[in-house]
Amino acid sequence: MMFLRTMPAEDIKGKPILVRVDFNVPLDDKGQVADDTRIRAHRQTIGELLEKGAKVALVSHLGRPKGKRRQDLSLEPVADYLREKMGWKVTFCPATSGTEVETALKELEPGTLLLLENVRFSPGEEANDPSFARELAAPFDLCVMDAFSAAHRAHASTEGVTRYLPAYAGRLMEREISYLGKVRDNPASPYTLILGGAKVSDKIGVIENMLGKVDSILVGGGMMFTFFKAQGYGIGQSLCEEDYVELARDLLDRAAQQNVRLHLPSDVVCTREIKETSNVTTVRPDAIPDDMMGVDIGPETSRAFSEVIAASKTVLWNGPMGVFELPPFAEGTRSVAASLAGATEQGAMTVVGGGDSAAAVAQFGYAAEVSHVSTGGGASLEFFEGRMLPGVAPLLKEE
Ligand code: 3PG
Repeated sequence: MMFLRTMPAEDIKGKPILVRVDFNVPLDDKGQVADDTRIRAHRQTIGELLEKGAKVALVSHLGRPKGKRRQDLSLEPVADYLREKMGWKVTFCPATSGTEVETALKELEPGTLLLLENVRFSPGEEANDPSFARELAAPFDLCVMDAFSAAHRAHASTEGVTRYLPAYAGRLMEREISYLGKVRDNPASPYTLILGGAKVSDKIGVIENMLGKVDSILVGGGMMFTFFKAQGYGIGQSLCEEDYVELARDLLDRAAQQNVRLHLPSDVVCTREIKETSNVTTVRPDAIPDDMMGVDIGPETSRAFSEVIAASKTVLWNGPMGVFELPPFAEGTRSVAASLAGATEQGAMTVVGGGDSAAAVAQFGYAAEVSHVSTGGGASLEFFEGRMLPGVAPLLKEE
């Protein structure tokens, strides 16, 4: 059996430790942190290391600067945020390796934080250049990988450094792998997979890997129209991936062959334009007017989905049911979030994949009422595709 090597139990007082976090957070137009969900997710890991008196250096990326220094993607505003909002003592280091980091670490008081500059300012990061990884690792005794949401990237700070330092999983990484692992590999039945979002092409790998494990699949969001097209319906101006219509047809057949109940919406909310003040109308999926587009699942579908969710012991949700950011098209997604919260209360294990569905449960106030909301967008998709993530593989040990 493979297990995660969890946080070091040995005495780490005064020891320099490199912690890979994901502070790839949205910034507002003043360059300030606009949403701190990802920062808060690392609280336990950072708190424990500080309490044990380690010298903790945090390393993260922010955005995609492609190996060049960009002032608008500096992590310095995050250092201010950590001081002001998290109450930590933080020194900001404008470098990620070399003498600047070594000097800052020497001067760092045990039990306080050093935040390194955006690691993607160095071309060696995304290239996973071994000499850059060695430089990054050089001043440290060990590393703790807590950035599950960046673990699908084989970069120097997620994978490369583990070749030069003993590597442990942080508490967030542990939590993610434990919940996501349970619903992927060991789910209690009945098991329902809810899929939404714009594109069926993003979810193919997940459907392929999960088809043999789930009892029901509920499909909503923009991807439903590719399935409707596969059934021969006219879909008006709705989103459609023409190249995937055939695949959608094949998935419908395969689900039927494997006794998986694939539920498509029985009513769809339509509009002529995506605006906060839009008028909407609800129609059957085979009656979408030519000049309208579908933007949400309808109330009858919400009720049907809710019944399936309520009867489930395990639920995995990835992708919103409609354009939930705007009130006229938000009801389907809100209803699914509420149904997940209800099922959790009844004892089901409910997991929300990261990205838009995580934003939706937060927007509707249900984030604390489901079993787990993943911080990983791309990472959780790859995890549910059954892939070994390069940032997780080095943390595994055999027992
Ligand atoms: C994310 O936001 O999903 C992670 O931080 C990874 O970012 P990336 O897609 O730029 O690698």
